[in-house]
Amino acid sequence: MEKLIPLVNQLQDLVFNTIGSDFLDLPSIVVVGSQSCGKSSVLENIVGKDFLPRGTGIVTRRPLILQLINLKEEEYGADNEDSQQDSSNTDGATTSLENRSDQEGYAEFLHLPNVRFTDFGKVRAEIENETMRVAGANKGINKLPINLKVYSKHVLNLTLIDLPGLTKIPVGDQPTDIESQTRSLIMEYISKPNSIILAVSPANFDIVNSEGLKLARLVDPKGKRTIGVLTKLDLMDQGTNAMDILSGRVYPLKLGFIPTVNRSQSDIISHKSLRDALSSENAFFANHPAYRAIVNRCGTFYLAKTLSNLLVAHIRDRLPDIKARLSTLISQTQSQLENYGIFKISDKSQRGIILLQAMNRFANSFIASIDGNSSNIPT
Ligand code: GDP
Ligand code: NA
Ligand code: MG
Repeated sequence: MEKLIPLVNQLQDLVFNTIGSDFLDLPSIVVVGSQSCGKSSVLENIVGKDFLPRGTGIVTRRPLILQLINLKEEEYGADNEDSQQDSSNTDGATTSLENRSDQEGYAEFLHLPNVRFTDFGKVRAEIENETMRVAGANKGINKLPINLKVYSKHVLNLTLIDLPGLTKIPVGDQPTDIESQTRSLIMEYISKPNSIILAVSPANFDIVNSEGLKLARLVDPKGKRTIGVLTKLDLMDQGTNAMDILSGRVYPLKLGFIPTVNRSQSDIISHKSLRDALSSENAFFANHPAYRAIVNRCGTFYLAKTLSNLLVAHIRDRLPDIKARLSTLISQTQSQLENYGIFKISDKSQRGIILLQAMNRFANSFIASIDGNSSNIPT
């Protein structure tokens, strides 16, 4: 995803400045599955930040609409220069770390305008508080979403949506219709044609019973926008593996299944870092007798790359349209200039047309570069 960020960012600027902000129309990524199958864990790994409440039982009780917003270098202001100086100086380790966490970006909630969170542990606490405030202290769910924006230069402008998991049997003070409530909430999000569905299923349960896949199939019967994510590969019975699912023999899905290992409950309790979690995930697949043969198609990193490929494909589909609009704009501007006659051409309009032509060239080279970019990504 990293390589794609500056490119898409440039293209988004281009589109924003000419034909309108929504024109790139990037899909949102919606995570679905049964309760505690690992949805929040997967999402957190994709974003690369520790900020979501996770745990056994029903933790996610309101939709979380997570908007990632790419911050450009200059928007970090003078902090950049400071931290570069600090990082060459070992004595300044603390300052350097503080600055780095500042550069990791910040978060804002819609319900708390003007409060800027730089500590992502506090983001998690606020999600918990806000869940409690609206959905109550017990196990109920509420369809009112929590809107969170994360600003960072390491993210793509993209929307990710975490949803409550499906439960069959009401617990605590859950209403008897909790299952259908959750189901209709999920359907609302995944039925949008412009969403990519991450259907999460735990590998230690029979895939045939996967609630996420069942729902995904209802709205995406051909499996064109559904990615199967298997979690908890580490919890499968000794001597068994998920190779038959991963090969697509059990449940065919065009975008396939990607196996992951996320942090366990005891990892969460011992505050295992995201970085350590990703390296032990990699070690798990690399050392496993069955998975090591397909290690480059396993894990969170590969999942992120697959998402990035999907976004590239989406953008490639949009580009002809974008280029056509740019060409129209160029010829409109040109004929306007001709109508005004040479005496009325302002510097501003001349710059306008030069800019449009430059943008058109950029759109062309963008296609070339993402073609190069995606061919580097193993499929
Ligand atoms: P959600 O309810 O679907 O959002 O699931 P969470 O992400 O909150 O995870 C539920 C529980 O499963 C937590 O205790 C996680 O630590 C644990 N968990 C998630 N993924 C894995 C995994 O791949 N392996 C293991 N061992 N535990 C996992
Ligand atoms: Na959970
Ligand atoms: Mg969750």
